[in-house]
Amino acid sequence: MFTILDALLSPESVRRKIVRRILLKIPGLQSGMTIDERIVHALTPRPHYAYCMLNGARLAKRLGFRRTSIIEFGVAGGAGLVAAETLSTLIEHETGIGLDIYGFDMGSGLPAAKDYRDMPYHWKSGYFCMDEAALRAKLRKSKLVLGPIADTVPQMLLQDRFRDAPISSIFFDVDLYSSTMDAFHVFEAPADTRLPRVFCYMDDIVGELERHSDFTGVLGAITAFNEAHGQAKISRLHLGEMPDQRLRASRLMMLHDFAHPMYSTFVGDEQRESELRL
Ligand SMILES: C[S@@+](CC[C@H](N)C(=O)[O-])C[C@H]1O[C@@H](n2cnc3c(N)ncnc32)[C@H](O)[C@@H]1O
Repeated sequence: MFTILDALLSPESVRRKIVRRILLKIPGLQSGMTIDERIVHALTPRPHYAYCMLNGARLAKRLGFRRTSIIEFGVAGGAGLVAAETLSTLIEHETGIGLDIYGFDMGSGLPAAKDYRDMPYHWKSGYFCMDEAALRAKLRKSKLVLGPIADTVPQMLLQDRFRDAPISSIFFDVDLYSSTMDAFHVFEAPADTRLPRVFCYMDDIVGELERHSDFTGVLGAITAFNEAHGQAKISRLHLGEMPDQRLRASRLMMLHDFAHPMYSTFVGDEQRESELRL
């Protein structure tokens, strides 16, 4: 029966938020939940970051690595990096894999649009300017790499550290088509700087009436990357229905690097095969 309370708690997202808040307040309840359950029900900071970081660390482990790297492109005030640091403690404990975190940003906010694909009708240069000193004071372990990512990404990827801790997750949040294309150069570095599949969170691809098309902005950059690369594709994760909108499959994607030497390395569960034989 549809009650007054049901009407008050509509739409569905409002109900979920309230249930989540109630769950969070029950002492000890979360301690009985797995980390996957906590992420799916958005009981961690930034569940979309958590999903990528956890599953990226698990993939690194299955492939025999002891450390892995996480990148956020577009840091601004640093809320995302701070969340990633909080999550890293949880995920290192869960997986036994060490997590290195990098944040790439201009420092001075959004650069000027280069053409219509940067959607100058929506974004303005200087948006999201960083207070570097305030941010550095908040960070515990992340490495902040400042400058245009067209310059900083190639420089960083020459460093050996990524070979011991290949990249497993990237959060793309640089808003512009041109900046997202610059960030995608991370996938053109030697294969040993990354895992064969990299979990990606793509911001700014859904919502708000007139903002998104497959040919401009972040979606346009994904289309262009996929057209330009025969042996590597950025594809949506097909996760099915997720309670939290940030976890919906449309924003969670994965780089598939088909030519990576480890692409076909088995990372499944040996147990499953023997179960099927019974
Ligand atoms: C929306 S903000 C990032 C917000 C942040 N991820 C968070 O969750 O709080 C976008 C950032 O991208 C950065 N950015 C955009 N284009 C860039 C480029 N080409 N090089 C470096 N940084 C860039 C801007 O400086 C800006 O701080």
